[in-house]
Amino acid sequence: MTAEKIKEIVSQMTLEEKASLCSGGDFWHTKAVDRLGVPAMMVSDGPHGLRKQKDEGDHLGVNDSIVAVCYPAGCATASSFDRELVEKMGQAIGEACQAEGVGVILGPAVNIKRSPLCGRNFEYYSEDPYVAGEMAASYIKGVQSKNVGTSIKHFMANSQETRRMSSDSRVDERTMREIYMPAFEKAVKESKPWTVMCSYNRINGTYAAENKKLLTDVLRDEWGFDGLVVSDWGAVNDRVAGVKAGLDLEMPPSCGVNDKLIEKAVKDGKLDEAVLDRTVERILDIVYRFMENRDTEAVFDREAQHKLSARVAEESLVLLKNDGILPLKKEQKIAFIGQYAEKPRYQGGGSSHINSYKVTGALEFAKDLPGVTFAKGFDDKEDVIDENLVAEAVKAAKEAEAAVIFAGLPDAFESEGYDRTHMKMPESQNYLIEEVAKVQPNVVVVLHNGSPVEMPWISKVKGVLEAYLGGEAVGEAEYRILFGEVNPSGRLSETFPLKLEDNPSYLYYIGEEDVVEYREGVFVGYRYYNKKKMDVLFPFGYGLSYTDFAYSNLKLDKKTMKDTEILTVSVDVKNTGSVTGKEVVQLYVEDEESTVIRPVKELRGFEKVELAPGETKTVSFKLDARAFAYYDVQLGDFHVESGSFKIMIGRSSADMKLTDTVSVESTKEIRRKYHLNTTFGDILKDKKAAAFLEPLYASCTMIESCDTNSAESGLGSSSKAMQDAMMQYMPLRALISFQDGTIDFEKLQQIIDKINQ
Ligand code: BGC
Repeated sequence: MTAEKIKEIVSQMTLEEKASLCSGGDFWHTKAVDRLGVPAMMVSDGPHGLRKQKDEGDHLGVNDSIVAVCYPAGCATASSFDRELVEKMGQAIGEACQAEGVGVILGPAVNIKRSPLCGRNFEYYSEDPYVAGEMAASYIKGVQSKNVGTSIKHFMANSQETRRMSSDSRVDERTMREIYMPAFEKAVKESKPWTVMCSYNRINGTYAAENKKLLTDVLRDEWGFDGLVVSDWGAVNDRVAGVKAGLDLEMPPSCGVNDKLIEKAVKDGKLDEAVLDRTVERILDIVYRFMENRDTEAVFDREAQHKLSARVAEESLVLLKNDGILPLKKEQKIAFIGQYAEKPRYQGGGSSHINSYKVTGALEFAKDLPGVTFAKGFDDKEDVIDENLVAEAVKAAKEAEAAVIFAGLPDAFESEGYDRTHMKMPESQNYLIEEVAKVQPNVVVVLHNGSPVEMPWISKVKGVLEAYLGGEAVGEAEYRILFGEVNPSGRLSETFPLKLEDNPSYLYYIGEEDVVEYREGVFVGYRYYNKKKMDVLFPFGYGLSYTDFAYSNLKLDKKTMKDTEILTVSVDVKNTGSVTGKEVVQLYVEDEESTVIRPVKELRGFEKVELAPGETKTVSFKLDARAFAYYDVQLGDFHVESGSFKIMIGRSSADMKLTDTVSVESTKEIRRKYHLNTTFGDILKDKKAAAFLEPLYASCTMIESCDTNSAESGLGSSSKAMQDAMMQYMPLRALISFQDGTIDFEKLQQIIDKINQ
């Protein structure tokens, strides 16, 4: 519907009607205005399938929803590093929404994995904003191609569940811009989500639901967002402040309590009615975007979507260790051990919980193989060692040629609503793995978890396959990868630290009472581990294949460039093994001469390519200024410092294969403001500014004694270094102390003012 028509409808509404449209009609619908023929629209969770509730609504997945297909959760799909696949999954979910009359699906969820402990990490994509942004943009493209909206969430800095409705995320501007915002920014700019969901928490003191800087200044004015902002369910604190800040729709409705406050604020002259009109217009725009594009022919083909879910899982599982044990052979005697072989843990708890169409465990596919036996090994209802189950598993393992243990985190260990307190697997499962490994040298562990775990048994097993929460068809993907029908191609979108204490947020996660300080700044995930040169269990970007790849011929289309130009990078990748496989080619950039404290390297590109044995493909990347930039707070924008940058092609964040350099010249000059306490060193870096100081040199006794790079000075090298340092770190005002009496403060200030002009 055109903007004019929407305005016309709004102009016919009473104040009461307008205020009342600012909240839903019920838990999952916007309000209708029958008098004017305005329809209601349904929204549903999301993100990895459709959770359409028929009867009583709840936001924690407690009450039943319609039967739908459960796709791999965000932790898994991000590991696919496959934009097209995620887009395809989005299309399928969009189709399901059309068939079910759902206008907006509440996802994708893109919050950054600051700590492995966040209870909701399973839903989120990555510790890296680039990966999270790429995945989100693809998902949104897919869903919205079916004329169904998305709601990218939770905007923003919502990286823990503890006190999620009241905590205050204290994040400095640069960290916000470089780490916590870019996934939203990318998705908004590239894929135009119909809606954005604001988070529950506060950001630097102001609730997201009434944060004008975020909801209007950044989202709409800077990034060009043209949809509606919806509150997370129950996130509204001060409704009138919310309308003013740019929060359009309150969900669920507060039984009209907040609508009345809006009405009163307009009557009292505290809220401009034009602002309310704009809010209502935005809501109607989204309602009509869906209603006018209903696809009544759409079908939710659950069987076909179940198959797609299996394909997505196959691309997402990550092979973490393989000491020659995988793939297994179908004729081998193999003990399948563990409850999750039969009933895999494949999705997380809370609002994303799907009433799944059908769940297939790996055992279902393997049961017809004559050599496969099964022992339950553990029961995940409680973390207690059941010696009988362990004994049975040990016996099965002893009688076999190999054992595959299907382990992981039980539901109770991770969920929306609370955070983990440790990174360990259940003791009963660790014990089971150790006991089996004592009698069977050929052990593979298949893990079902939404976030990293410690692996105390890693050296005692020959293989580890990370299945994450791989959706309802995960068992099929596991089976096909274990037996080599599919070559694993997932890569970790997060670091697995050796232990929790290594994580950069460890000291401050989950904050004190409501205050959560993001003190590690931009050093999240691999940005921290790399900088500290720390060993990790598995690095970001890591994953094995049943084939090998060789890299060659790294080419940059220029060796020097301005930051307004695009750098094209290409590299050849060859499959040097004997089976077809997919490689995730990763491009990292390092600023070699930064004056700013920066991570060693940052991911700025990735491409997944399929290669037959012996085949070579050229992969190319285009890098713009953002690939080289950091966020400069003084400038209030991203900035590229002139200098040399390394362009690296890696197989993970810890394994660079090829490197070249490019020299980038900045076109944006940052005008620093100088003052009496600016150091000489800082001024001398700025040639123009330095020229103004020259007339003063003659009067400075300190400069005289420093001008001694000749042997005549008689100064030893350490004294010379000391003199230089003294000079470099001397503030301008100190000229007054070390001079021949010709300078006073007034004269000095005049010179500084000239420099600042
Ligand atoms: C969650 C959202 C979800 C909403 C509706 C909230 O508790 O944080 O992600 O979309 O409920 O179920």
